[in-house]
Amino acid sequence: MKTVKQLLDEKGRDVWTVTPDSTVFDALKLMADKNIGAVVVTDAKGICGIMSERDYARKVVLHGRSSRTTPVSEIMTERVLVVRPDQTVQECMALMTRKRLRHLPVVEDGELVGIISIGDVVKAILSEQEFMIDQLETYIMGHRITQT
Ligand SMILES: NC(=O)c1ccc[n+]([C@@H]2O[C@H](COP(=O)([O-])OP(=O)(O)OC[C@H]3O[C@@H](n4cnc5c(N)ncnc54)[C@H](O)[C@@H]3O)[C@@H](O)[C@H]2O)c1
Repeated sequence: MKTVKQLLDEKGRDVWTVTPDSTVFDALKLMADKNIGAVVVTDAKGICGIMSERDYARKVVLHGRSSRTTPVSEIMTERVLVVRPDQTVQECMALMTRKRLRHLPVVEDGELVGIISIGDVVKAILSEQEFMIDQLETYIMGHRITQT
């Protein structure tokens, strides 16, 4: 079973972050520039939140607030669920489904070392299943040839 570490080896370990006092507008601009759906919020002590497109839609747009004057700290999710590199991709999928999350920062020894999204997890699980189907097809074909 593929681990978070193996997934990060393939997709890379860059994490785009903002500080709690950044404006929501600047966070959205970074998300648009980098083509990502969430930014991790960090301060001097480490991770202090995560802000996603969903936080913006529900806590800024629906409340009639302005993204140019609202700081990220006012709308970010403060209780951030994280995973370790030695956890499996299947565990992440279960966590994302159960908690309805689309992004999981990866933390090792208290350090932010990556981030995985629901898209990364689905892609990894699909490619694992394709590999298994290929192996089974090869096995079945080999078996047929030996029998004829
Ligand atoms: N085929 C692929 O390789 C692949 C992988 C992931 C996502 N996607 C597609 O992208 C779209 C949106 O994906 P999503 O909902 O999973 O989330 P997303 O748009 O937030 O994630 C897109 C990619 O950016 C990375 N990312 C997200 N936030 C980041 C951050 N703060 N710092 C650094 N990297 C960050 C993710 O790990 C992922 O690889 C979907 O259409 C999905 O199918 C494709």
